[in-house]
Amino acid sequence: IRDMNILAIESSCDETAAAVVHNGREVCSNIISSQIDLHKLYGGVVPEIASRKHIEKINQVIEEALKEAEVTLEDIDAVAVTYGPGLVGALLVGVAEAKAIAYARHLPLIGVHHIEGHISANYIEHPDLEPPFLCLVVSGGHTHLVCVRDYGTYEILGRTRDDAAGEAYDKVARAIGLGYPGGPKIDRLAKEGDPDAIPFPRAHIADAPFDFSFSGLKSAVLNYINGCQMKGETFRPADVAASFQKAVVDVLVEHSMKAAEEYGMGRFAIAGGVASNSALRESMKKACEERNLKFYHPSPIFCTDNAAMIGAAGYYEYLAGTRHGWDLNAVPNLKL
Ligand code: KG4
Ligand code: ZN
Repeated sequence: IRDMNILAIESSCDETAAAVVHNGREVCSNIISSQIDLHKLYGGVVPEIASRKHIEKINQVIEEALKEAEVTLEDIDAVAVTYGPGLVGALLVGVAEAKAIAYARHLPLIGVHHIEGHISANYIEHPDLEPPFLCLVVSGGHTHLVCVRDYGTYEILGRTRDDAAGEAYDKVARAIGLGYPGGPKIDRLAKEGDPDAIPFPRAHIADAPFDFSFSGLKSAVLNYINGCQMKGETFRPADVAASFQKAVVDVLVEHSMKAAEEYGMGRFAIAGGVASNSALRESMKKACEERNLKFYHPSPIFCTDNAAMIGAAGYYEYLAGTRHGWDLNAVPNLKL
């Protein structure tokens, strides 16, 4: 196959992002315009505001991505775009933009699943990583344990029954007054706390060893904080953060290693915003070393939402023959 430049676009939530990716693994540019400061005021992502901001930013972000890669649209061979899952109004902005560029330039259009993008972020910095491998995808919207059989072929081994891991981080962070997004803030605060200070619950689901549940843990943390306040006792936020984080990480690692032992693929990867969590990385690394598994994780910038990961996934979709028509639509609950 000849050299290929993909222009990739991601707008499924609160980052407007564009990237140019060469042959699936070489990132020529990776531009991310975050709306966090805007949504912070409301304690979470406001869908209508997200859509509007995407419209305002997307052309500029694409221009920057081309400029940083030192290419023009003449040098682009295909356009890849996230078409789900995500916020429908937010997704539509990226999809419409990708269709317009592909149509005008007579380029192939490749719709990409957001989770496939997160998983594919691992290809960017690990030239040796190829399927099959297992991947734990942990983000604000998803907690999936996935078996990557081949490029584009996924089997979901387990998923969360309620809150996503990142969602739990964000809700607990709000309860201890850390603000949005809470993940990185809890990560930081937890370093000053005692992870064994408070015995928060670890949820296991009968007959579904690879599934997760975080809503009970979230409630336990909120009850603990309310209980302290009612008794007029002060609590140590750092201890709450550290104990909560340990409860999350313990379950993520335990279920992941159970899957690794059962499926025995020799390689384990993590992906998604929570994959940049320092405690999760450390525990996962140790657990993988103990079992002789090769452990992979993207750099933090490729863990949270970005378009480079969409370019990586789009490349392998392209090779597999995926082409979308001008009727490509946003699919908020798209299945992997
Ligand atoms: O992948 P992502 O950018 O968006 C989704 O697809 O959801 O993930 C965002 C999530 C947020 O919930 C954020 O709090 C969490 O990832 N996150 C973290 C860390 N950095 C981001 N959670 C724990 N520790 C971190 N260091
Ligand atoms: Zn994401």
